[in-house]
Amino acid sequence: MGEGTQAREEIQVWEEGSVAEFVPVGKVSDLQPGQMKWMAVDRERVLLVNVAGVFYALKDQCGHQWAPLSRGKLHGHTVECPLHYACFDVRTGRLLNGPVGVDVPIYEVRIEGDTVFVKGGTDYR
Ligand code: FES
Repeated sequence: MGEGTQAREEIQVWEEGSVAEFVPVGKVSDLQPGQMKWMAVDRERVLLVNVAGVFYALKDQCGHQWAPLSRGKLHGHTVECPLHYACFDVRTGRLLNGPVGVDVPIYEVRIEGDTVFVKGGTDYR
């Protein structure tokens, strides 16, 4: 086995380890475009959002006074907090406007077949 082969095998092992961190959270068909819902992933409240068939996941907690964003409103790629109306971009977690100066952590999402996976833990992007 040459050095190149060994390097490829190490990469493959690392990738398999990464995949194991993704947690299945539901079916693609369970959440229609324009909808969002919260779920527990590794003891965290995670907000799963479907915008035009693309899924995003972010912490279900506003950075101001911790209101659940899942009770807010979704307008395109923007979720509006139900309490004081801070707005966050679901793609990046970035604060767009509102009485707060912090972004919301986001999580990686993968789709395999009809299953949605979210990367759990505290390793936010
Ligand atoms: S709790 Fe979300 S803006 Fe105040």
